[in-house]
Amino acid sequence: MRRPRRLRRTEALRRMVRETVLTVDDLIYPLFVMEGEGLREKVPSMLGCFRYSLDLLLDEVKAAQDLGIGAIALFPLIPHHQKDNGGGASYNPDGLVPRAIRAIKQAVPQMLVITDVALDPYSSEGHDGIVKNGQILNDETVAVLVKQALMQAEAGADFVAPSDMMDGRVGAIRQALDAAGWIDVGILAYAAKYASAYYGPFRDALDSAPKFGDKKTYQMDAANAREALKEVELDIAEGADILMVKPALAYLDVICRIKQHTNLPVAAYNVSGEYALVKAAAQQGWIDERTVMLETLTSMKRAGADVILTYFAKEAALALRSY
Ligand code: PBG
Repeated sequence: MRRPRRLRRTEALRRMVRETVLTVDDLIYPLFVMEGEGLREKVPSMLGCFRYSLDLLLDEVKAAQDLGIGAIALFPLIPHHQKDNGGGASYNPDGLVPRAIRAIKQAVPQMLVITDVALDPYSSEGHDGIVKNGQILNDETVAVLVKQALMQAEAGADFVAPSDMMDGRVGAIRQALDAAGWIDVGILAYAAKYASAYYGPFRDALDSAPKFGDKKTYQMDAANAREALKEVELDIAEGADILMVKPALAYLDVICRIKQHTNLPVAAYNVSGEYALVKAAAQQGWIDERTVMLETLTSMKRAGADVILTYFAKEAALALRSY
């Protein structure tokens, strides 16, 4: 009789035949930064997550490094009076993000810094692009995204990560970076980004929810997987270095299909809503947080993700030490 249970008998055996091993090297830690000093504000819908003023952000980045985390992704909270429809503050060389990049590169030089390219935190309309007559303009927005990406490269970003889902932006950003001599600055493309309600807590954190309508004319329909492959092919052709699927948990099949379709590294974004579900249930005592966290992150890697953006990064790094 065949007995698969033979290989599950002891922990040593299970470890020996384990197919997927999550490590701290796989993790990118997304961080929220805000103006001010000495500030560390709770994000109510994301238990254990904070928005940091720049001085305290540096402590958090150091703490991440001490846990072995090698990369962070920066997201800014922009004061209301700096927001406009054109996202003008997004390419201000003295803005919050470039100041944060420079400070991190000075204080924690080894840390890989990834910056978000999109207008929503800077948009008075809460959209990822410029709005005209209720429509999101594509090419006009791409021109602004290019300026934003160039400014971030100038400030020292290692990777820029366009999360806006405008057509043609990866190619436009790659061309502009190359022309300006930033040949080593990479593009982590949000290739398959879905119009998802799982982003709710993130929009609380950055006060960036759309002021009208939704994001369905640019972010993808949750029902589509073949369309993800189309987006991926375009981003590869346009020069992406890493392809991202977002959200992750409800889209593991998409991660799996993209992985089979490409030789580029695949990233998964374990988004704010996925984090909030686990935190909320754990707070009620309904699930074991540590185990569910590791099981969830491992499922993303098993599906094909080489890299995982997760608000659990520090907790996971800690848990993996004794795993
Ligand atoms: C915006 C952006 C969003 C997230 C990352 N970049 C929100 C959105 O598209 O509305 C969501 C991340 C998360 O939910 O954790 N370009």
